[in-house]
Amino acid sequence: MENIPQSRRKFITTLTLLLASGGVLVRYLIPRSTARRRVLASAVAADVPLGGALLFRDERLALLRDASGLYALSLVCTHLGCTVTVTEDALSCPCHGSRFDLQGKVLTGPADRALQRLNVEERGGRVEVLG
Ligand code: FES
Repeated sequence: MENIPQSRRKFITTLTLLLASGGVLVRYLIPRSTARRRVLASAVAADVPLGGALLFRDERLALLRDASGLYALSLVCTHLGCTVTVTEDALSCPCHGSRFDLQGKVLTGPADRALQRLNVEERGGRVEVLG
């Protein structure tokens, strides 16, 4: 076995520790921009009528269209998590009566936070709701 001088061994050990801790530090400081976002639902964009909604009951979300375009709302009530139902002019929770406007803002409580707005990507005539 090769006899490595003490100072060289110490240098190599220190260098190895620095590289290992540097890798951990870089991974911690740099956000994962390449993290894949999950497609929660997808549809043909033309299937969402102006002023209307397309419901995805299993995914508990609605894809809506107004004059400004397509958007998606979570149908999970921000009070205690019941599934909100969509009517022509509002979204209402059957559990404790909270009502939300079609943008998801609270009209009446007990919920005190708006419904979660989900990211939407439209391309090639299809629309995807991302989580
Ligand atoms: S869970 Fe919706 S109002 Fe309570």
